[in-house]
Amino acid sequence: AESLRDSGWAERLQRLNTVASTQEEAKLLAEKGAPEGTAVMAEEQTGGRGTRGRKWHSPKGKGIWMSVVLRPAIPLQSTPQLTLLAGVAVCSAIRKMTGVEAGIKWPNDLLARGRKLCGILLESSFGPGGLQYCIAGIGISANLSEEDYPIELREIATSLLIEGGMPVDRGELAKEVLRELKYHYGLYMDQGLEPIAHLWEEQSVTLGRRIGLKTPQGWLEGTAIGLGEDGGLLLREENGTVTSVCTGEIVLI
Ligand code: BTN
Repeated sequence: AESLRDSGWAERLQRLNTVASTQEEAKLLAEKGAPEGTAVMAEEQTGGRGTRGRKWHSPKGKGIWMSVVLRPAIPLQSTPQLTLLAGVAVCSAIRKMTGVEAGIKWPNDLLARGRKLCGILLESSFGPGGLQYCIAGIGISANLSEEDYPIELREIATSLLIEGGMPVDRGELAKEVLRELKYHYGLYMDQGLEPIAHLWEEQSVTLGRRIGLKTPQGWLEGTAIGLGEDGGLLLREENGTVTSVCTGEIVLI
C-alpha cells in the first residue's frame, strides 16, 4: 500500500536521457516489482515503438515519451479497456494544460484538426496467475515543429506547438497526464467502464462519423454510434446491422 506522503504518480516520475524505448525501461522496473504508477519518461528514444510493429518518431527534447506500470486485477480480455481510459486521461490533460482541441480517434489516437498528436501503446505481461502487469506507453508530440517531422509524416502528424502556437513545459504536462491517469484508472477500478465510456464519447472525434475498417471478412463501412459494454466500437451499417468492433484500424470517411 502507498503511504500518504507517496501517494502521487506524478511525484515519482523518473526522467531518463536517451533510451531505446521507455516500454523496455518500464518493463524492467515492473519485473523488479515496481509499484503501480511507476512512470519513466525519456528525452529521446532511439527505438520508439508504435502499434502494429511500427516505429515511433521520438526526437530529443521534443516530446513526452513516457511509460507507466499498471497492475490491474482484471481479466485479459478487458485490457483493451485500459487504452480507452488512457486516451481519456491524456486528452483531458492536454485540453486542461494547453487548450488545444484534442479529440480521440477510436480506440486511442489523439488528433487535432484530423492530424495525429498522440499515440498510446498498451502492452501486457501474463504469467501463471493471469495478468501480471501492463505497460501503458504514451507518446505526445509536444514541441515538434514541422521540420522535426520526416516529409512522409508532415501531412498526417501535428504537435501541441504547431496547434497551440507555443511550446509546452513537457515535465509539467507529463505530471498532469499522470494525475489524470491515476484519477481515471481509479474511476475504472471502482466503477467499471461506464463512466470512462461516457467521457470517451464526449471527447471522441469518431462518434457520429462514417468510418471504414478492414476485417478478415472484408471491408466494413458504417456510422460509429457509440461504445459497447466491452469497449468495442459500435458500427451501424447502411442496412441497420450493428457490429461491435474490438480491434483494427479505422478510417474516418
Ligand atoms: C501508436 O502507434 O500510436 C502508439 C505510439 C506509442 C509511443 C509511445 S512513446 C513512449 C512509449 N515507448 C515506446 O517505444 N512507445 C510508447
